[in-house]
Order: sequence, then C-alpha cells, then structure tokens
Amino acid sequence: MQIINLFPLSIVKEKISLDQNIKNQMIEEIRIMVKNSKNEKYKRGISSWTGDTQGFEYICRNEKFKKLFIEIKKKILNYLNHLKIDEKAIELYITRSWATVSNGKENILKHKHQQSHISFAYYLKKNNNDSNLIFFAENFQNEIVPGLFTNPTVRRRGIIKENNLFNTPTIDIKTEEDDILIFPSKADHGTQPNKINNERISISADIVCVAKNSELLESIMPPLQNWDQM
Ligand SMILES: [Fe+2]
Repeated sequence: MQIINLFPLSIVKEKISLDQNIKNQMIEEIRIMVKNSKNEKYKRGISSWTGDTQGFEYICRNEKFKKLFIEIKKKILNYLNHLKIDEKAIELYITRSWATVSNGKENILKHKHQQSHISFAYYLKKNNNDSNLIFFAENFQNEIVPGLFTNPTVRRRGIIKENNLFNTPTIDIKTEEDDILIFPSKADHGTQPNKINNERISISADIVCVAKNSELLESIMPPLQNWDQM
C-alpha cells in the first residue's frame, strides 16, 4: 500500500547556542520583568506569565537580548528558505517580542497570533519535564465522519484504535533548552496542561512579512514607506 500525504504544516526546529553568561543575563532580566508586572489581575491562576500582556512586549529592543535576536534572524531566514520564499523580496519586521514564564502547572491555552505572519518559541530555560508546545489540528482533512477524531466518546469506545499522525487532534513537540520552533502565526498552538514546570522560560515574537517592492503585486503588504497615514 502506498500512502501519499498532502499539504503538511511545517514546524522548523533548530538549536541556538549562546554563551551561558548571556543566557543568565536574559533570565535575570526576565525575572525583573515578572516582578514588575503591570497587569497581574489579567493572569489566570494557572496561566503562564506572558510578558506581552504585562507591559513587556518589546524585549528585542533590550540590549541584553540583541545577540539572541541576531541568531533568531538566521533561523527565520532558514525557515523562509524551507518554504522557498525569496528572502530578497521580503522585509521582516518584529512587531512584538516577549518572554513567557511557567511555574508548576501553569500553561498557555490554545491560541493563534492573528495579527502576525511568522511566530516562534525559543527555550531560554527548560528542563525535560517542563511542558512542551502543542499544535492543534484545524482542518481534519482525514476525518471522514464529523467528530470521529475529536469527540471524546469515540475515543473512549476505542473506535480509534491508535493515535497517529493521520488521526490525532493535537501533537506535542518535544523540545529542550536552546531549541527554537518556528511556525506560521495562524497555526493553533498552546502548551501541555498537565506538566509541572520548574520556571520554564521561553521567548516569542511576532514577525510580519512586507514586500520590498509592490509593483505588479496583488498580495503581500506593500513597503511601509509607501503607506499614507490618514
Ligand atoms: Fe503563542
């Protein structure tokens, strides 16, 4: 039997190796941000601390994160190359960048970054027991009967004999400290809910792609310098 799989979602995973001193400085800086949270009431009891909701949404401008973001740019270009997008035709803008911190059972619910094109999670501090990123199936192209892959009673009855790539509604991506995951911002993602985290720290950003030249181009945002403020 031959199986032909069509239209995959690509998640790029790479390593970023930085000097431990630089990492420690970033960790300390993030701990200070957590102490100075500006919107503590916004955080649910078991939700992770997310810097973008606490007044710290531009960390790539912080000197202590500069080296990291230089490395991240290289990885983003590899991601574009994987998709065979011509990097010379595109300008990349980081529109927001922030840290997340998870302790105990804290987690991040399913969400997507609707105002962005490319997103990533880089693991600045993580041990193997800390929660991983989960991706959620959205189109269920193989779900021949509605609810077959998502309804808990179908699972409980054992009608799906085995969870695999072709029928699963969620997939955990195993990651270690220093890993970066790059993915489309529109992909539904969250973190594993039932793990005990020991101050897992990740850094994320939203990146927007803009055309360098809009001539004869219907899609892709035109260059910022051509925009007119009303
Ligand atoms: Fe996210």
